[in-house]
Amino acid sequence: MVMRSRVLGCGIFLPANVVTNQDLEQRVDTTDEWIVQRTGIKSRHIAAEGEKTSDLAIAAAMRALEHAGVPGDSIDCIILATTTPDNTFPATATKVQAALGTKGFAMDIQAVCAGFVYALSVADNFLRNGQARRALVIGAETFSRLLDWNDRTTCVLFGDGAGAIVLEAYEAKGDSTDRGVLSTHLHSDGSQYDLLYVDGGASSTGTIGHVRMHGQEIFRHAVSKLSAVVEEALVANGLESTDIDWMVPHQANRRIIDGLARKMKLSPEKVVLTVDRHGNTSAASIPLALGEAVADGRVKRGDLILMEAIGGGLTWGSALIRW
Ligand code: ACO
Repeated sequence: MVMRSRVLGCGIFLPANVVTNQDLEQRVDTTDEWIVQRTGIKSRHIAAEGEKTSDLAIAAAMRALEHAGVPGDSIDCIILATTTPDNTFPATATKVQAALGTKGFAMDIQAVCAGFVYALSVADNFLRNGQARRALVIGAETFSRLLDWNDRTTCVLFGDGAGAIVLEAYEAKGDSTDRGVLSTHLHSDGSQYDLLYVDGGASSTGTIGHVRMHGQEIFRHAVSKLSAVVEEALVANGLESTDIDWMVPHQANRRIIDGLARKMKLSPEKVVLTVDRHGNTSAASIPLALGEAVADGRVKRGDLILMEAIGGGLTWGSALIRW
């Protein structure tokens, strides 16, 4: 027998305000055709003035608790992945803790677009080693606040939102038929720091800064690093890509997702896509996509789910979960 963490429920929240490619055509020198062809994005949700990352996170977490059928005070660990905290400190997770009345401890994780896979891995480790029993794992972003709305190469790509899951420790058999997190695989390469970054920060400029990106370089790293980390997850569990029921990828770009699915010989129907309606919501994109696929009945008990993500750092990772 081994300790594992299994998912009890999930929830999502998207800001009401939708910005279409046509809206962006009014703002920068771009076209709907360019954006759709290069990224697959048609629209994205953008937080209203005063709508903070914690607001999104709390709403998604409340839905996840409801879906799981457990009260807030039964949670003893919150791990919140975000690049856009309400304040530089304290951790936004502590605001969620106060709003939901959870116990134990709460902290933020910073791994940009790979944040949810990192947060899941951290929570899974706490649950498996007995340091917590029930965790909320959240990805929440108001990424629009980091955008330079005059830079057409980045402002068309991102959106805001939040997704959350409730994880619980349990005693499992210890093979790949177990429910829950089968394994997580994390990597980073700080030598690629300058490929995708924000040109500000508390200890450098004293400002928040804006996103700067070498898009083509990121694209090149994405497909090769993601296929390697997916293979790592499959090998670790003695599984093949044909065993995967659903790929729930980080939603950066339709072309990256399609390229990876092709490399894995995964049929397009097995890939959960939200990038067309959400854009890239950074740490929120995987739980948002997962939440949609669970809510519409695609994901069923016992299904094998592959998650993968890459982001600034570079940071990247994968996770295999049996629902
Ligand atoms: N509208 C119209 N034209 C544009 C726009 C725009 N929004 N943005 C750039 N262009 C122009 C460029 O200026 C360039 O013009 P030029 O040829 O006259 O110089 C032309 O389009 C081609 O630009 P490229 O950067 O070569 O376009 P590319 O095909 O590489 O697509 C993109 C750009 C979509 C950013 C792509 O490189 C990409 O998806 N990279 C991955 C980056 C990514 O996903 N980042 C998200 C964060 S990291 C993550 O989550 C994985």
